[in-house]
Amino acid sequence: MTHTLSLSWTPVALSSDVPPGTVIPAKLSSGPIAVWRTQSGHLSANGDRCPHRGMRLSHGFVRGETLSCIYHGWRFADDGSCTHIPAHPNLTPPSAIKCNPRQAKESGGVIWVADELPEKGPLCFEGFKPLRSLVVAADEASVREAAQATNIEGGFAASVGGTDIRLLVSDLDGEQVFVILFLAENTSPEACVSASRWAEVMRQKAERTCNYGETS
Ligand code: FES
Repeated sequence: MTHTLSLSWTPVALSSDVPPGTVIPAKLSSGPIAVWRTQSGHLSANGDRCPHRGMRLSHGFVRGETLSCIYHGWRFADDGSCTHIPAHPNLTPPSAIKCNPRQAKESGGVIWVADELPEKGPLCFEGFKPLRSLVVAADEASVREAAQATNIEGGFAASVGGTDIRLLVSDLDGEQVFVILFLAENTSPEACVSASRWAEVMRQKAERTCNYGETS
């Protein structure tokens, strides 16, 4: 597949998916990334490839304020620079060793990443908060159809049993989309549970529609 630079903010996870001291894999249109949060809570993102021997950095772990590769333990700071090479503990790593840092930002309970700092801020559904995310093996059109949603700026709007829903949908790799489900801030816990179940049904429907041409 062709990789293109992501020049606008792309939603890659919920803030709650990356607690302090953890790293997760995610995707931009330019390729796989590792999204991680230091022990003190600072969020970072970088290419998911160690500059040493190419191990996925999302398989590594967070040590304090650095991300450590699981293979030979090279450590990286949030600006992508290498800070420590265990095999050469007295060496100051050359500044040329970098793990391809990306722009990362949190807004509205969502983690957004871009290859270069976008001019515009990330999308905001005023009065809504994210409930959950899901990966759907379908395209945007199939998700919209399965959700019986309408287009709004930046996403889709739908209604389930009287509950207003917003959907943020971004392409992952041409075969899957990443979907974040938003509900109005005052939605009851019961309605949240119903909406979450509805999302599972919607996913199955979208995948059937996209893969097999079914419409219901
Ligand atoms: S591959 Fe990452 S430290 Fe060697």
